[in-house]
Amino acid sequence: MCIVQAICRDTFCLLFVASKNGAWSKSDIRSFPKGFMFGVSTSAYQIEGGCYEDGKGLSIWDIASHTKPSPIDDGSTGDITVDSYHLYKRDISMLKDLGVDFYRFSISWTRILPNGFSNYVNSAGLRYYNHLINDLLKNGITPFVTMYHWDLPYELHKLGGWTNPVTVDWFVDYANILFESLGDRVKFWITINEPKEICHEGYGSDMKAPFLNMSGIAEYICAKNVLLAHAKVYHLYDEEYRTQQQGSIGIALNAKWFEPASDTIDDHQAAIDARQFDWGLYAHPIFSKEGDYPTQVKNNVYAKSVEQGYAQSRLPELSAAEIAIIRGTSDFFGLNSFTTVLTYRDASLDGMFPVPSFRDDMGAVLTNDPSWPRSHSPWLQEVPWGFRKLLLEINKLYDNPPVYILANGWSSKRGLLDEDRIQYMRNYLIALLDAVKLGCNIKAYAAWTLMDSFEWLRGYTEKFGLYEVDFHSPDKTTTPRKSAFIYKEIIRSKKLDPNYEPEQYYEEKEIYRKESQEEGRVKN
Ligand code: BGC
Repeated sequence: MCIVQAICRDTFCLLFVASKNGAWSKSDIRSFPKGFMFGVSTSAYQIEGGCYEDGKGLSIWDIASHTKPSPIDDGSTGDITVDSYHLYKRDISMLKDLGVDFYRFSISWTRILPNGFSNYVNSAGLRYYNHLINDLLKNGITPFVTMYHWDLPYELHKLGGWTNPVTVDWFVDYANILFESLGDRVKFWITINEPKEICHEGYGSDMKAPFLNMSGIAEYICAKNVLLAHAKVYHLYDEEYRTQQQGSIGIALNAKWFEPASDTIDDHQAAIDARQFDWGLYAHPIFSKEGDYPTQVKNNVYAKSVEQGYAQSRLPELSAAEIAIIRGTSDFFGLNSFTTVLTYRDASLDGMFPVPSFRDDMGAVLTNDPSWPRSHSPWLQEVPWGFRKLLLEINKLYDNPPVYILANGWSSKRGLLDEDRIQYMRNYLIALLDAVKLGCNIKAYAAWTLMDSFEWLRGYTEKFGLYEVDFHSPDKTTTPRKSAFIYKEIIRSKKLDPNYEPEQYYEEKEIYRKESQEEGRVKN
C-alpha cells in the first residue's frame, strides 16, 4: 500500500511516494503501467522537404522561409530538410530500431489539396501517406496522425487564414478526405497541433507564420475558429466514420506550468490567470463540464475592452450552440509540454505591455529561475516538478481525462553525447510516473523528436533529435545520439532505470567516428 505525501514550498515541491520498502529514490528502477505506449513525434514541414514536388501546393511556411530578408535565423528553409518525402523508409528503420509503439507525424494539407480546397485532390500526395502508413503498419508501428501542424495553405491565408470563419469549413472538407482515404488504417487522429502557438504566435505576434502581429485581437478570433474547426471535425468523425473505423480523435494542446514566483496571493492569482489565458482558453471549452472560455479570461478581456473604448469584447463570444458544439470533443487530452515559468503580479509594471495585447489582458509577468538547467532554446528549461504539477492540475480541472503526452523534448548542442537530453528525459519520465502514482490517467508518451529538423524561425540552429542529422550529406545521414539508446532501453524494458548505460552506444560511436574520419568529416 502506498502513502502519498506532498510537501510544497514556494516554487519547489518535494514529493515522497513511500512504499512498504521505503521512499522512492532517484536511482530506483520504476515500471510503466501496463499498456503504456511509447512513441516519437515529427511534423510535415519540419521533416518532409519535397516542397515543390508531385503537385504539392504552397503553405504559409513555404512562403515565410523564402521571404527576403529571411525571417529564419540561419536563412534556411524546409525545402529539403531531412528529406522524409523521399527517405521515409529510412525514418521507419529508425523507428523500428527504437522499438516505438507509435509514430506521430503530420499531413501536409497542400500535399493533399494543393490550393487548400477540396475540389482537387492530389493523388501523388495521398500515395505518399498511404505508403508511409502501410509501411508503419507492416512494421507493427501505430500511426498517430496530426491533420494540421501549422502549414496552412497559402491560398487560404490570402483569404484571412484562421481569422476567416469559412476556414472552419475548408478544414472540415480536408479532414473528410483524410478520413475517407486513410481512416480505414488510422486509428488515432489529432485534429490540430497547438492552437495557442497557431493563434498567439502566428496571429497575435510575429513569432510564427503568418506573422500577423495583431495582439489582443487576432489571436482571439483565431482561437474561436480553430476550436470550431477542431470540434466540427470531431463531430464529423463521430457521425460518419467512427462506427466503421473504430478510432479515437483528439487535439494536441501545448501547456506550460506557471508557478507563482512567491507565496503572495497576487502571485498565486497571476499564475492561475496565466494558466487560464495560456492553455485554459483552449482546454476549458473542450474539457470542462460547463464548456466556454474560462470565466476570468472572459471577464478580463471584456473589462479591458470596455475601458479601452471597444463596443464589444475583443474576445468574440461563443454562442450557447457553439459552446455545446465544442464541449466534450476530444477522446483524450493530447498534451505537448516542455517547460515551466515563474509568474508574478506587480502593479508598478502596469503599462509595460502594449494596449491592447494578450499579455496586457493576462496581467501576469513571466520570468524564470536561472538555476533551472538550460537547453539550447532560450525558452526551454528543465523543471520536472512543474511537469508533474501540470499533470495533476489537468487531472483536477478536467476530471482525470486520459492523457497522451504527444510532445516532450530538449534541444542540445550538436554532437552525439547528449547527457543533458538524457537527464531531461529521465527526470520528466520520473515526474510522469509520480503523476501516475498520484492517480493521473496517462496512456502514452511521445518524445519530440525523432531526428534534428527545421525548428521554425530557429532554422537548423536548435537540435531536438534523438538522431543527429548531417544536413550537409546528400542522403541526410542520421546517427543515433546516446539518448536514442537510452530511450530504446526504456521502451524495450517498459522500465526507467536511471543508471542504465548503453554499452552498444560506445561501440556505434566509434564506428561512426571512424567512418566520418575516412570520409573527411569529423563530427563530435
Ligand atoms: C512543436 C514543434 C516544435 C517543438 C519545439 C513542439 O511543441 O509542435 O513543432 O518543433 O515544440 O519547439
